[in-house]
Amino acid sequence: WLTVDAGHTTAAVNSTQFGHIVEDINHSVEGGLNANVVRNATMKENGISSWSLLTAGGGSGSVALDTAGGLNAANPNSLRLSIGANAAGQRVGAANAGFYGVGVRPSATYQVSFFARADQAFGPVTVSLESNTGTVYASASVGTVGTGWARYTATLTAPASAPVSTANRFVVSANGAGAGRTLWLSVVQCNAPTFAPTGNIRADLQQKLADTKPGFIRVPGGNYLEGNVIANRFAWKNTIGAVEQRAGHQNDAWGYWSTDHFGLLNYLLMAEQAGAEPLLGVFAGYTLNGSVTPQNQLAPYIQEALDEIEYITGSTSTTWGARRAADGHPAPFPLRYVEIGNEDWFDGSGSYDGYRYPMFYDAIKAAYPQLQIVASMPVTSRPMDVIDDHYYSGNPAGIAALATRYDSADRNGPKVLVGEYGVTNGSSTNPTGTLSGAIAEAAFMTGLVRNADLVMGAAYAPALTSVDNWQWSSNLIGFNAVSSYGSPSYHVQQMFGTLLGDHVVPVQLTGASPDVRAVATRTVSGTVYLTVVNPTASAVETQLTISGASSVGGTATVTTLTGDPNARNSISAPNTIAPTTTTTAAGPSFVRTFPANSVVVLTLSTT
Ligand code: AHR
Repeated sequence: WLTVDAGHTTAAVNSTQFGHIVEDINHSVEGGLNANVVRNATMKENGISSWSLLTAGGGSGSVALDTAGGLNAANPNSLRLSIGANAAGQRVGAANAGFYGVGVRPSATYQVSFFARADQAFGPVTVSLESNTGTVYASASVGTVGTGWARYTATLTAPASAPVSTANRFVVSANGAGAGRTLWLSVVQCNAPTFAPTGNIRADLQQKLADTKPGFIRVPGGNYLEGNVIANRFAWKNTIGAVEQRAGHQNDAWGYWSTDHFGLLNYLLMAEQAGAEPLLGVFAGYTLNGSVTPQNQLAPYIQEALDEIEYITGSTSTTWGARRAADGHPAPFPLRYVEIGNEDWFDGSGSYDGYRYPMFYDAIKAAYPQLQIVASMPVTSRPMDVIDDHYYSGNPAGIAALATRYDSADRNGPKVLVGEYGVTNGSSTNPTGTLSGAIAEAAFMTGLVRNADLVMGAAYAPALTSVDNWQWSSNLIGFNAVSSYGSPSYHVQQMFGTLLGDHVVPVQLTGASPDVRAVATRTVSGTVYLTVVNPTASAVETQLTISGASSVGGTATVTTLTGDPNARNSISAPNTIAPTTTTTAAGPSFVRTFPANSVVVLTLSTT
């Protein structure tokens, strides 16, 4: 028996109920959300790794790292292309292998920008997208390169006949020109199609995030916020303004170079364009190697956080609000939640509750009393507006068991952000999890909705992963240089995010395994969403009663995610597990069977 009391509401669903955390892990940003297909754009990642000499038709030359005579102090390194023989029909260039390939799509347009100088002016210099076997899909001349550093731009459009492929390279070359000349390159960008004109955010990845209808995006992480050492934290001031002025930093939390070309403003635009509010994480004086900033040295980091909040929310008459406007976004961003640090329970010294949290709390509340402060671990020194709980388990049952975690939690304490959670059952060859993991997450999420009065938001983590290089076993969205797919967990997130009312309504489920979970919400206009999660190996037939409504529509929409519990999706099989939508006869009372291993949402209309 399953009864939904559509006439009563218990809690209001929060606009932030479900969201994402985005940090640069698994190349989520560098080689992912950042639309630039060129790897090692600034020649700071192991010299000129990802770049190689390209010659054809008998041309000759060499490429090398040059650390002298660079573009500017932030970007002193350049790639030096020495051109040897280069008569008509001979070609010499520098080829970039991208992030595990360069993605080419039919009819896609790429915006190229790079800085260059030559020992003597020569041209034409050409940029191209071509297959690794030499098929040129698009090329354009940038004209003559002069002797002083200057920016060169071009637009490349792949033909409609180009295959969807990653086995490609981006090339800067001269054909029959520049014999004996030297060309230097720095800050090279070839930006794939973006979601919107601003933000430089790779279109398919941002679309997938937006399609889950996130209420918030927690930025910028995660461990990425902290770094292993202070110098490698997310130092937000180094991530804004002209990209050629950004020095980048070693993402030592996850082991690769970050150009910082996808900076704070890009994270904020990502949230804005997904229809979400940013939930800001500020660096709080603790790094992953265990170092803690002493109390008498914390002030600069507190100021850094205050400036960051001003950059995000300040009017254009404030210093940092004006800077945001100069960076192209005059309107302030909405901001309600600021998290102090990340997972500070790893700091065994007691410094978080001892002085770091209270110092950040006092300073932020003094300047911005309206902001809700999120504590990354329990504290007693100051109030916690919100506490950030994280849950990971390799075993689906470990996450499913949390479905009742908040049912009897203290209502007089802080609100709860479940800032990270997930079943970590990705495989050694696939960094996304199984349907069984997704069903367990759905079971947990029924509890998050039911306790919406306490749980203000939740985010599966991590959101994105390259399928060619990852550091975390299980992620929501997998991508390569050209394509992406949603895992079964992604579909669960999308179902919960899009099929969600404004208020929770009571549900009673009897006569089924206690592992079967149900929750319901309704909108003010009477649409009822009933979510039933059946992780068992048997179908569950129930008599469904919708009480408390004057009328119940005769048809319901049924969105079902089911299949082999061990199945995963992948780049080559993106839809092995995907939701289906059907309709069924409905009414105040009807029989419904919920398949084994399934998540089902019934959308009912009531008055
Ligand atoms: O989501 C992956 C990592 O898990 C986050 O960076 C960190 O906060 C947590 O330990």
